[in-house]
Amino acid sequence: MAEAVSEPRSLPLLAAARRAHEAAFGGAAVLAAWAPARVNLIGEHTDYNGGFVLPMALQLGTVLVGSPAQDGTISILTTSAEADEPHRVQFPAPRQGSPLSPGQPRWANYVKGVIQHYRDDGDLAAKALACQKAEHTFAGMPCGIMDQFISVMGKEGHALLIDCRSLETVLVPLTDANLAVLITNSNVRHTLTGSEYPTRRRQCEEAAAALGKASLRDATMAELEASRSRLGEEVYQRARHVIGEIARTVQAAQALQDRDYKTFGRLMVESHNSLRDDYEVSCPELDELVAAALEVDGVYGSRMTGGGFGGCTVTLLEAGAAERAQHHIKEKYSGTATFYLTKPSGGAKVLPL
Ligand code: GLA
Repeated sequence: MAEAVSEPRSLPLLAAARRAHEAAFGGAAVLAAWAPARVNLIGEHTDYNGGFVLPMALQLGTVLVGSPAQDGTISILTTSAEADEPHRVQFPAPRQGSPLSPGQPRWANYVKGVIQHYRDDGDLAAKALACQKAEHTFAGMPCGIMDQFISVMGKEGHALLIDCRSLETVLVPLTDANLAVLITNSNVRHTLTGSEYPTRRRQCEEAAAALGKASLRDATMAELEASRSRLGEEVYQRARHVIGEIARTVQAAQALQDRDYKTFGRLMVESHNSLRDDYEVSCPELDELVAAALEVDGVYGSRMTGGGFGGCTVTLLEAGAAERAQHHIKEKYSGTATFYLTKPSGGAKVLPL
């Protein structure tokens, strides 16, 4: 069972990345940076509806090293504990009149997009928004702001409640030694992700417009019910998930503050069921993993996390139950699961060379 790589242990990754950079490009890297992975505890498909999300940054992450070459190209190499080998790319530096444009390999579009859109002004929210713009325009994914915000604002020992309308953030302590967050990778990724996400986003906009609201953040369940007959059944269901999930996320953040893990766990399960039945972004593998986790004594709650159609589940449980939960899930799951027991960690940063 994989153990998460802690942030200080990004150092061996950095050393490996620097060596690989020299071998690949024939020169030393002149800059290095670290970006954490993230997991969302609750608040799914709410960010692009102006709602709340509650993610945390992980100890796992990616190291990036790079250098400009004499011939006007930029060389970039990235590596993580998860990658079999480093990924590398070289592309012409942007110049006046010839900006960067997306291309192959696809992962590098995230890097190029950030080079194109990011201007250092010291403001973390502006940094996150520039990264979101990069994802929209270079990776073609109309994502919300959750990933970029938690990546730049993550803090050790804390989850982050993000108000995706006002962009205000509140750090919620998550340091109880008796509590664990277990991430389970289903190791499946259904191809629906790309097409279904923009469709969900459009359906939410349609529902908000029909309710006369700027976004579903402004709508209440009573207003939705009153308009049910005017909305198609599918659009109604999508909106019911979002409105319910926004309320659940606020309640869950409070429960975490109060160390009321039972309530938090119940809200996680409600979130999963709503994503499965109303938002229809789960899949049999994620449902299986959640069901197996909930059979384990000491588990407070479990749900799919992220966009859906594969990827990971997140489970909140007593620290003492972590070992048996992994064994049980492994036994019950029809596929091959990978586990990460992680703690909330710090955000993206430049690494000194
Ligand atoms: C993806 C997007 C996020 C968010 C989640 C669903 O991860 O990148 O912005 O919308 O899906 O909560």
